[in-house]
Amino acid sequence: MPDRQDGPEEQDRRMGQGGQTRSDEADKRDRQGEAWIEELLRQLTPEEKVGMIHGAALFRTAGVERLGIPPLRMSDGPMGVRREYADDAWINIGTSDDYVTYFPSNSAIAATWNRELAYRSGQALGAEARGRGKDIILAPGINIKRSPLCGRNFEYMSEDPRLIEELVVPMIAGIQENDVAACVKHFAANNQETERYWVDTIVNERALREIYYPGFKAAVQVANTLTVMSAYNKLNGEFCSHHRYLLGDLLRGEWGFDGVVVSDWDAVHDTRAAAEAPLDIEMGTNTQFDRYNLAEPLLEAMRSGEIDILHVDAKVRNILRLMRRLHMIGPAHSSRRAGTYAVPAHRDAALETARESIVLLKNESERLPLRREKLHRLLVVGRNADMLHAGGGGSAEIKALYEISPLLGLKAKLGGNTEIRCVPGYAIPERAGQEDDGDPARAAERAVAVEASAGRSAGLLAEAVALAKEYDEVIFIGGLNHDYDVESADREDMKLPYGQDELIEALLEANADTVIVLIGGSPVEMHRWSDRARAIIWGWYAGLEGGTALAEALLGDVNPSGRLPETFPRVLDDSPAHRLGDFGGRERVTYNEGVFVGYRYFDTFAVEPAFCFGHGLSYTSYAYIDAHIDIHDDGTGEELKAEIAVTVRNIGAMAGAETVQVYVAPTGAGVERPLQELKMFEKVRLMPGEEKVVIMKLSKDAFGYYDEEARAFVAEAGEFEIRIGSSSRDIRLIRKISLQRTYRY
Ligand code: BGC
Repeated sequence: MPDRQDGPEEQDRRMGQGGQTRSDEADKRDRQGEAWIEELLRQLTPEEKVGMIHGAALFRTAGVERLGIPPLRMSDGPMGVRREYADDAWINIGTSDDYVTYFPSNSAIAATWNRELAYRSGQALGAEARGRGKDIILAPGINIKRSPLCGRNFEYMSEDPRLIEELVVPMIAGIQENDVAACVKHFAANNQETERYWVDTIVNERALREIYYPGFKAAVQVANTLTVMSAYNKLNGEFCSHHRYLLGDLLRGEWGFDGVVVSDWDAVHDTRAAAEAPLDIEMGTNTQFDRYNLAEPLLEAMRSGEIDILHVDAKVRNILRLMRRLHMIGPAHSSRRAGTYAVPAHRDAALETARESIVLLKNESERLPLRREKLHRLLVVGRNADMLHAGGGGSAEIKALYEISPLLGLKAKLGGNTEIRCVPGYAIPERAGQEDDGDPARAAERAVAVEASAGRSAGLLAEAVALAKEYDEVIFIGGLNHDYDVESADREDMKLPYGQDELIEALLEANADTVIVLIGGSPVEMHRWSDRARAIIWGWYAGLEGGTALAEALLGDVNPSGRLPETFPRVLDDSPAHRLGDFGGRERVTYNEGVFVGYRYFDTFAVEPAFCFGHGLSYTSYAYIDAHIDIHDDGTGEELKAEIAVTVRNIGAMAGAETVQVYVAPTGAGVERPLQELKMFEKVRLMPGEEKVVIMKLSKDAFGYYDEEARAFVAEAGEFEIRIGSSSRDIRLIRKISLQRTYRY
């Protein structure tokens, strides 16, 4: 057998270059591969085929030993490879060999606005998955952050499809370099946890095309993701995992996906519907694997002639193709990449990402960075100073090799000459934030716990406030945790839990210079105290070095460069999903806000957010000197190219990184469109006084909207503003361009 050749086929797959640049050699390999798959299909019995298309354990399918077909091994998840579970029980194996690198969450990665870091994060995650012997890593999660309340927002990237597209592509490329498949999830419109197994999300085609699909489309067409996870929810009346249009016409037809669709765990409800849908593997949480829809019930239906084996063959074909691509079987399998995990290189990627994810929301009169020389006595208040988060969140839980808390990060950086005192300031009731499951006994228990913690909190608040008057410096480190940012439940409101608002108000009263740090996966209301606070930092679940990165930012060793990948509304009611649409506990949830998600709503309807999309300050400042646009139309009506050159200068005293954002605004659209939409961005590093020209390119798809009647995107002839700035609300330069013709695509 010839050895694996890392030739054109491999290169095609990397950095999402597949499709357009495929070589003849790669095509030939594909043809040979397909013929070989057909041969295997002929040899497989119906029972063996069915074994390959459903979970035979919680995280794997069955292989076929006699033909050398291995099982497909999967694992969560987005922040690292999940702890190892027994095959047939939700019990952690409990050995010491599943400690892994804990990576920053996708919300943190998105806040870096850095493609290279998305790539490095993916590369390290893929290597860890492969190192742990996995074939599919159940990541990345890229659902749109439609409401601030969604419990899984921390696992997702953004409210903006363009930012997601730009980051998901390098991330998947990085993962898949390791002969492990990414599994982009949850397809599609899975934007809440409440009623997640049953809810019917009603979304119009335009919103799907403009907002909810683009990340998935880029994952398929540009990044060549090898697998996709179908979501729990229904989309416009049909379960996503049975959805013939979604998985068939759209994903496989229009987008050309020829990989494997894996159902979310327990997302399949009917044997016939799933057998006949373009879904390939049914996974579940139940351990009676033979009773899965695509197990014995399917075999029975095949025996009685009710379901044709051709449907099963189509699934097995996709699975064998995936195995071949992963070098699990076939000529190259002996040189399949081995991966590695829990190694220093992965820690470095996590630290770099954590550093760039921190968002400096407010910094009045240069309150930050802290001056080391003045830091003799430092008071740290708040539970997130000393709390570890890796083990929570649901399927995103990690058995972290280690986790540097903010307190440890600060102590490690400051050393023995600073007296650091850390007090909680508030209590966390056990099981707070968990859903009311209707059990009166548990509800009573919860009420007692909440009351007891309220009592405790009063004392803790008094202690913290008294100390705040005495110390030179006070930092509050609070926010959310995985009681709130969690799978299976949405938050009930957008408020800070555990009485933190009262505590922050009291701390600011006692010491007006108190620095506020919040950690969480989605926004909280801050209006009670944000005007008074001089400095506010937002940190995410930022991986095993999160505390180091935070300490570096507070001390000015790192200049913050994170940007909000989502709008932080002032109050929940301002959020479009809540103001215009439905959210939460209903059978049907209608996305009445259509395309007006996130800043598209806030900007168009002039609603003032607390902190806008794209916002994030730096310890230096940047001047936008000038911008030029070159526009080129190839004359065929097919292609349009605009090149934007923006000159930016660091006019402060510290080196830093500025994220130059380009928003496109139609000036006289024939249909209702968002005021402006992000279409390109570039993060540029600048030394003090340094100036650089940042080049960004736009094509016709930066100008279009989806026309439901024409069933196509349309970029109408007319004038557009190119708005260049430091955030969606800090536009520094505006240039006008006009499209001479209408483009359809
Ligand atoms: C989650 C998925 C996860 C799967 C396996 C499901 O409940 O929705 O994101 O990959 O479980 O743990």
